Amino acid sequence: MRPKISIIGAGNVGATTAHWIASKELGDVVLLDIVEGMPQGKALDLLEAAPVEEFDVDVKGTNNYEDTKNSDIVVITSGVPRKPGMSRDDLISINTKIVKEVTQNVVKHSPNSIIIVVTNPLDAMVFVASKVSKFPHHRILGMAGILDSTRFRTFIAKELDVSVEDVDAIVLGGHGDSMVPLPRYSTVNGIPITELMHHDRINALAERTRKGGEEIVNLLKTGSAFYAPGAAVAEMIEAILKDKKRILPCAAYCNSEYDVGGYFVGVPVKLGKKGVEKVIELKLNADEKEAFKKSVEHVKSLVAATEKYL
Ligand code: APR
Repeated sequence: MRPKISIIGAGNVGATTAHWIASKELGDVVLLDIVEGMPQGKALDLLEAAPVEEFDVDVKGTNNYEDTKNSDIVVITSGVPRKPGMSRDDLISINTKIVKEVTQNVVKHSPNSIIIVVTNPLDAMVFVASKVSKFPHHRILGMAGILDSTRFRTFIAKELDVSVEDVDAIVLGGHGDSMVPLPRYSTVNGIPITELMHHDRINALAERTRKGGEEIVNLLKTGSAFYAPGAAVAEMIEAILKDKKRILPCAAYCNSEYDVGGYFVGVPVKLGKKGVEKVIELKLNADEKEAFKKSVEHVKSLVAATEKYL
């Protein structure tokens, strides 16, 4: 039997995630949305690409949580994306209510699933899903770090005119302007970028990474990024379903780790069949520690702001 992956929210991120999952043949996909007909239409359209793309997985669209039952993985993308001039944090009131309601349904129909949250403001929305689901912390995580890192990797590869395949990068902290790109841990086939680029250029690329989501929002004007976010979610799903034990930056629960004190923030984790199998603690220097601490403080303030909508 193939693994079952349900995606709640069949909008841009949800549908694109389904597309990457199907093309990688990771499992059967259920796309759920509150809009009638739309998830069914997108699912059928994607399914009809199967003979051309040669993937043998089922793709089903629905408005009914019954169809999601006993999913192995549930991806939550339901919610409102931001518009130009908005920060991710401006979405808190509406998206907290949506994520709460969706999580209640996920718990009811797929009590043993692993939940991956994508809805923004990300770190706070994972916290909401965790609080509502009461799932063990290893079965709930958020997608942000891979996206922020892949943006950094793209900019590094372009700047140095090298293959993206050789570029690795790590971005820690919350998924917002306070995120912490780590040039010391970013490499081109093992060579730290600090040896390949002037620090002014590194700083410029790190800043572009921090503002990477906003750059897309300003171009699109009617929504936010979805190709790279969808690909990042598919990479997490692949690591989990194939028990690959990949080390990837994700929003994971940290208590004593990095002295976070019980919040979800972006850190490198080992991803395997249990979900988050380990949080990897990097040695940070004083500046990195300070920036990370600031980012965590921001996440804490966002979590506090969700409380009145729960
Ligand atoms: N249950 C199920 N689906 C819902 C609900 C709900 N309670 N509320 C909203 N939705 C659906 C909408 O109908 C819409 O189809 O969520 C979908 C969101 O899709 P888009 O508006 O296209 O937004 P998208 O770009 O996919 O972003 C979704 O991910 O990256 C984040 O910031 C982004 O929070 C946003 C989320």
